[in-house]
Amino acid sequence: MASEKAGRNKTIDTPLSEGQVYLNRCITVTEKQTDLCAVTNKTIVGNMFAVCPLLPAKSVDLIIADPPYNLTKSFHGTTFTKKKDTDYEAYTRQWLSTVQPLLKDNGSIYVCCDWETSLIVGSVLREFFHVRNRITWQREKGRGAKANWKNGMEDIWFATNSDDYVFHLDAVKIRKKVIAPYRVDGKPKDWDETANGNYRDTCPSNFWDDITIPFWSMAENTAHPTQKSEKLIAKIMLASSSEQDVVFDPFLGSGTTSVVAKKLHRRYIGVEIEPQYCVWAEQRLAMAESNPEIQGYVNGVFWERNSLPAQNAAQKKPGVSKVESEQKRRPEEPDPILTSGNA
Ligand SMILES: C[S@@+](CC[C@H](N)C(=O)[O-])C[C@H]1O[C@@H](n2cnc3c(N)ncnc32)[C@H](O)[C@@H]1O
Repeated sequence: MASEKAGRNKTIDTPLSEGQVYLNRCITVTEKQTDLCAVTNKTIVGNMFAVCPLLPAKSVDLIIADPPYNLTKSFHGTTFTKKKDTDYEAYTRQWLSTVQPLLKDNGSIYVCCDWETSLIVGSVLREFFHVRNRITWQREKGRGAKANWKNGMEDIWFATNSDDYVFHLDAVKIRKKVIAPYRVDGKPKDWDETANGNYRDTCPSNFWDDITIPFWSMAENTAHPTQKSEKLIAKIMLASSSEQDVVFDPFLGSGTTSVVAKKLHRRYIGVEIEPQYCVWAEQRLAMAESNPEIQGYVNGVFWERNSLPAQNAAQKKPGVSKVESEQKRRPEEPDPILTSGNA
């Protein structure tokens, strides 16, 4: 039983001592860069406060930032210590002012946070950008609290540099089964009738309930303590960037942003202070060469929960889709959220 479990555990946890081959692919940046090519599609080992001022101004199309939340947490030995709100506000202002010059005038930024940090991030973000929305995603995992509501969500703030920005709505629609098929003159009204069922591609809202955090049986999982899922980052990237755009992550962690960028044909730059996490990021980037799939994103479509049979059917019969696939995909294994009965 134990060995079967171990066999299915896909967690990437290559120790630094065995990851030299991956670390060698990373770069350090110690001088001002005039040419973006030298740093694109690279993992930069270093402190974002030192690295960002050395990168070319107005060079990136999208920033995805997942900074340490205001919690005491160890990142491979480096502990981020919970601060007073005013100090976390100052920290947030400091890193936002460091990344803001890198963003193109028509660029977008997304910032991840928990509910407590969100109170600070949302307001500081306004000092630098046009805040467009606050996405809340349902985060299933978490401990129950004895005298409080269990935390089951996180926020992602969406902001832009100006009113001129990209948003590819059709790339992030969610395919849902039609419960009450409404017809006009006998024809489906805003839905598709297919051999595999009736579906509508719906506009995504700012509440995301179709995403799980990575766990041990998923190919993308690493031993990083706060890894985001590829599906979550893919939604952001597909909506707010185009192919070949430059996506920048100043707190790269295990490399999720860079991996998704590679899979979705964007260019990427990531900065991470811990060499151990850089090893996992590069290992995942290497794996992406042979496995470009993003779990939960199938045939270029995000599916609602509990739709695995329909996804499989759609794979066999691509004609089911009116939104043609950007890339044909099949997840290595089912989205756990789809198979958990956790609707
Ligand atoms: C919340 S985690 C990001 C996780 C990431 N989104 C993922 O999917 O793996 C924050 C990361 O920022 C890194 N970090 C913290 N301060 C940093 C700094 N000043 N410069 C670069 N990286 C930093 C930490 O080591 C940690 O890996």
